[in-house]
Amino acid sequence: MKTVIKNISELIQTETTPRKWVAGKDMSNISTIKDAFVEVENGIITSFGSMDEWNGIEDWNNTDIIDAEGGMVFPTYCDSHTHLVFAASREGEFVDRINGLSYAEIAQRGGGILNSAEKLQNASEDELYEDALNRLNELVQMGTGAIEIKSGYGLTMDAELKMLKVIKRLKENTDVTIKATFLGAHALPKEYKDNKDGYMDLVINEMLPKVADEKLADYVDIFCEEGYFTVEDTKRLLTAANKYGIPSKTHVNQFNAIGGVKASVDLGALSVDHLEEMADEDYTALQNANCMPTILPSCSFFLGIPYGPAVKMMEKGLPVALATDYNPGSTPSGNMNFVASLGCIQLKMTPEQVINATTINTAYAMGVEKELGSICIGKKANLFITKPIPSYAYLPYSFGHNVIDKVMINGKFQ
Ligand code: NIG
Ligand code: FE
Repeated sequence: MKTVIKNISELIQTETTPRKWVAGKDMSNISTIKDAFVEVENGIITSFGSMDEWNGIEDWNNTDIIDAEGGMVFPTYCDSHTHLVFAASREGEFVDRINGLSYAEIAQRGGGILNSAEKLQNASEDELYEDALNRLNELVQMGTGAIEIKSGYGLTMDAELKMLKVIKRLKENTDVTIKATFLGAHALPKEYKDNKDGYMDLVINEMLPKVADEKLADYVDIFCEEGYFTVEDTKRLLTAANKYGIPSKTHVNQFNAIGGVKASVDLGALSVDHLEEMADEDYTALQNANCMPTILPSCSFFLGIPYGPAVKMMEKGLPVALATDYNPGSTPSGNMNFVASLGCIQLKMTPEQVINATTINTAYAMGVEKELGSICIGKKANLFITKPIPSYAYLPYSFGHNVIDKVMINGKFQ
């Protein structure tokens, strides 16, 4: 069955040859086609162009025609950093922060990641799956067509495997493109309070081999931060993961720049994420690397911490990706439209830069740039149709509103 979407006022982020990523000055450009059509067959984009070039319908019995009625078509967002699987919200900590406690103080009192871990350890796989599926369906309606999901609220062998199995079920039962990341080194469990090396041994020598053996993770991750895991821990984990052929995506520079960027880049990380605090050597490490710097502006918004220096990165010729960080503690939102708005409003990126940062560059950051991230013949038909809007800048401009009308994943409207 073919689907043709016609009368698209503007088709956004078209590509003739798939690119690896978009970096530096190039981030200011996107290709678009006004008054356009897109043709989709078997879940894949087979043709696109201006309405003048459209050949019309060859087989009426085998073609669905969708009239975009003046809406625009964008490739769906790729959200390359989330913690979508969790057992409970943490609005109590949100209120504690309003009343003056910091994120670090809450964590020291046993809140934060350990609070989520306790709840998750007591939840069943089925409950976690149902909740995560509901969240995912909500995100799809907001334009997300690919998502990376981390473990890291288990912190025991059983609970980490339980999380990764939930992610595997989401992969198997939805059309969304999903990548799983093993984040056993997210926080030190209470039982290992004075024995960090013991916990790292458990993560590296017991959890990682099992995760690799059961093929439950596409990537590994570690929270490299003061009070969590060190640069040495990061090197140890990434070296071990590389031996299993599992690349990494790391949490670095959220509160302090302690050298996690260089350690990650040196060990071949696909992305380094957060980057609210950047030292000169972090930029140097990223030059000429194959690692995607990924900023998570909704986390900065929610915690009131600095925003990552997107403009400076682009001035230095680097690519920039923007993802949500959806999790119950630091970012209880998986809305990529809001990320796009924050990219413009707080990071001072242009709408074109934000579109590149949330599609093609996040596709790279989750290893799917050959199949997603743009409107390109041969890529997956993951796209959304907007309500009629005056220009593509209207999308990040109209923050808090939903301008998305229909979402197609693998050629199917959701
Ligand atoms: O990316 N920084 C580490 N991990 C998450 C927050 C986890 C939590 O607070 O539950 C993040 O912000
Ligand atoms: Fe995160």
